[in-house]
Amino acid sequence: MKGKPVIAPVHLTATYKFDNTDDLIDVVQNRSGYIYSRWDNPSVVEVEKTLAAMEGYDRALGFGSGMAAITTAIMANLKSDSRVISTREIYGGTFELLNDVLAKFNVDPVFINCWKTRQIIDEIQQGISVLYLETPTNPLLRVADIKPLAEAAHDQGAVVMLDATFASPINQRPLDLGVDIVIHSATKYLGGHHDITAGFVCCNNAYVDQIWTYRKILGGVMDPMSAFLAQRGIQTLELRIRRQNKSAMKIAAFLDEHQKIKTVYYPGLPSHPDHEIAIRQMSGFGGMLSFEINGDFDKTKQFMDGLKVIKLATSLGGVSSLANQPITNTHAALSPENRAKAGISESLVRLSVGIENVDLLIQDLGQALETV
Ligand SMILES: Cc1ncc(COP(=O)(O)O)c(C=O)c1O
Repeated sequence: MKGKPVIAPVHLTATYKFDNTDDLIDVVQNRSGYIYSRWDNPSVVEVEKTLAAMEGYDRALGFGSGMAAITTAIMANLKSDSRVISTREIYGGTFELLNDVLAKFNVDPVFINCWKTRQIIDEIQQGISVLYLETPTNPLLRVADIKPLAEAAHDQGAVVMLDATFASPINQRPLDLGVDIVIHSATKYLGGHHDITAGFVCCNNAYVDQIWTYRKILGGVMDPMSAFLAQRGIQTLELRIRRQNKSAMKIAAFLDEHQKIKTVYYPGLPSHPDHEIAIRQMSGFGGMLSFEINGDFDKTKQFMDGLKVIKLATSLGGVSSLANQPITNTHAALSPENRAKAGISESLVRLSVGIENVDLLIQDLGQALETV
């Protein structure tokens, strides 16, 4: 038949058949093909190749969620006596993994605020196996200075991991900053349409076999349908990110001038404490921003309930603009003291800017602020 599909099929198969036993043995021993989809699946391999090329690493591996990618990558690189240093401002699930789950295995992580570069380096110089970073951070968009931290970690022979979900591969290039293992929650920008839960790890060949083996054992592999949707999402990633960068900057400037807003947290604003690092390290400031309303919890709730275009929802990074009050969901589990330490007030709002018309979004924020 002439003519081939432009779009690769979705390989909805759990297992694979062989013409003879020798072929099957070859695949089991040499991974020369497919045998079982918890090991590999053609649709997943397709999107893995796309992402590896985009990030510039030898390989990428697909996972069933961002957390599956994080747990598998960390566990694959830990020994029972490993010393882990992590920035404190990491995703809540990652914090629980390092602080609670891995404590059972004699791993005792050290957490340091991501802006205390000198202190992190001093700690690294006392010996380290894994340096875990996440930047920009959630929800205050702090930007850790990756390069000097990665250099210090490498001097100690440590592996450097980075959760780069907020920046996406478009706004930040971890390979050039010395990162060994990059992690993405593809539920966010890579998928981009709020319709998949998925994750990726990108790394060079030196790290990939161990992570692949742990993925096979722990079982958090990406499913073929999510791989297909991630592949489709990634095709428009650059377009979406460029628009979201631009819209977020315009919204941040609008909010910064608004009398009902106390503070705006956006790395693109000169007032942001990490603006200089962001200029040096990122090629775009991203589509995420946070702000504090002049008022208490109830006034902020009133603002949230007044939004008409922007949806009240958790998660981020997709085509629709989403807003939430971190205190009510993403950071609800923190004690008031820990919340205060993390700088999360009752009037803080996190906004994930989508691809809608930016003037419509500004109008929506303006009219909701009028209700306060
Ligand atoms: C920065 C970051 N990393 C990881 C995750 C976890 O990803 P997932 O929900 O896909 O497991 C999230 C989820 O919100 C996140 O924001």
